[in-house]
Amino acid sequence: MKTSVIILAAGKGTRMNASTNKVFLKLRRPILAHTISAFEKNENVDNIILVINKNDSEEVERIVEESKFNKVKKIVNGGETRQESCYNGVYTCDDSEIILIHDGARPFIRQETINSVIKDAQEHGVSVVGAPVKDTIKLAEDGFVKETMDRSKLWAVQTPQAFQGDIIKKAHEKALDDKFLGTDDTSLAERIGYKVKLTKGHYDNIKITTPDDLILAEKILANCDEFNKFLA
Ligand code: CTP
Ligand code: MG
Repeated sequence: MKTSVIILAAGKGTRMNASTNKVFLKLRRPILAHTISAFEKNENVDNIILVINKNDSEEVERIVEESKFNKVKKIVNGGETRQESCYNGVYTCDDSEIILIHDGARPFIRQETINSVIKDAQEHGVSVVGAPVKDTIKLAEDGFVKETMDRSKLWAVQTPQAFQGDIIKKAHEKALDDKFLGTDDTSLAERIGYKVKLTKGHYDNIKITTPDDLILAEKILANCDEFNKFLA
């Protein structure tokens, strides 16, 4: 079953406040190189599609060449929003039976999680990696608590998000027609009636968003044996 992953790296990294796109910041090597590497070495992933900002193309090509990422088949330009970037990637993988979407800024994805989310998409159509929330979540309105949510039913979702190829295309088309902008990819499938399987992942699959995430990322890098293997 042909499986492609779209790695989204076309953002600006505004909240990181760095002089470059945050995916090029180094955790020993660029964050984006760690992320690509996880999929390059995964036995179930055939193709990697990178979605980038066109101003970053030289830097991205350098990373791909230096690390000899042979599975990178296409590098396409992103859009103004993450959803647009994703759309551009989806339309380059015509014949893929399974399509994964992953944030370029999420370098600590484990092999076992990639394998599980693929298996769940094969079985259920759509799947998303996540983990039960640890904090109590309150619904807010005008600075006051409107409602306390039942924590046992809440999950924080991450990426990869995985889809059977026809489903992601249908979901994006409909969102475009309806001018719907979702905060994640699976919500586009939910709104047209698909049930999304939750694939349990790990809390250390963080998205590097703000400068304090870099401190945490250094710790994860230093402490996680599996990740050290992954670096080898
Ligand atoms: N992304 C993208 N195209 C966009 C916006 C985001 O490909 N138009 C990618 C980012 O490069 C990142 C991932 O989507 O890997 C998750 O988005 P986020 O963490 O919000 O990254 P940025 O948008 O770059 O950061 P910020 O929101 O702080 O500007
Ligand atoms: Mg953003």
